[in-house]
Amino acid sequence: MAEPDQPSTARMIDYWLGGEHHYPVDVAAASAFEGAYGPCATIFRALRDFLGRAVRSIADAGVDGFLVFGAGVPTRGNVHEVAPDATVLYTDVDPVTIRLGQRLLADSDRAGYGYGDATDIGTVDPAQLHRFVPGWGRRPVGVVFLGLAAFLDDDTLARTLDELYEAVAPGSFLAIDFDSEELAAYPEALAMMGPAFRMRAPARFAPLLGRWQPTADGIVPVARWRPDGTPEPVPDAFYGGLATRPAG
Ligand SMILES: C[S@@+](CC[C@H](N)C(=O)[O-])C[C@H]1O[C@@H](n2cnc3c(N)ncnc32)[C@H](O)[C@@H]1O
Repeated sequence: MAEPDQPSTARMIDYWLGGEHHYPVDVAAASAFEGAYGPCATIFRALRDFLGRAVRSIADAGVDGFLVFGAGVPTRGNVHEVAPDATVLYTDVDPVTIRLGQRLLADSDRAGYGYGDATDIGTVDPAQLHRFVPGWGRRPVGVVFLGLAAFLDDDTLARTLDELYEAVAPGSFLAIDFDSEELAAYPEALAMMGPAFRMRAPARFAPLLGRWQPTADGIVPVARWRPDGTPEPVPDAFYGGLATRPAG
């Protein structure tokens, strides 16, 4: 596979998680970001651990099909690894990351990877959707929407979440996060995230969920969402939680 000449935030996360699926251009960008902000590995480990707890709790509720948007690299404690009895469709818009994901999942009959623009559900291949998320629209599913809100403006995010709510069956879950205002104190690091990057205060994010109903845990710093034991002390860079389209 030809090496990309542009870094990807998803592959930078793989680097910070100690993974093996990134390129020199990703390592260079990750190192430059850490030079401007500080060490990132514990922050992204806390975010990935949140994914694990959120996905397991959705699976424990009886859901066995997941659709993942902005999926990045499908390793290091990702959805099919923490919910091994479920079927999972990972999607992204970055062609290099999609090819990487397809290669990693080539031998799996429970998880697949394809193109999907989160802002337009119609871009997800219907054949893949029905294979890996059977009963889409008729049976409760888990939608994983992590690392994406930061790249969508408020109107687009609200519309996208509302369309997802309309598309899923009652009883479905949404796992979501957003970037706090942590980077406001680090202008050089903030500039590296590009002009589309959005930080949000919790009060600004809450109305964007629209009809999705957060669980009683609320939308909180990810390390403090149903922690296993005492949470690691990490900066509150990401907030997240689960929301539902209530059953019935
Ligand atoms: C910060 S990374 C997060 C990756 C992964 N969720 C994780 O936590 O490791 C954001 C990902 O979203 C993808 N992305 C950006 N805009 C998107 C969109 N409109 N629809 C789907 N994916 C998108 C990027 O290509 C990238 O892989």
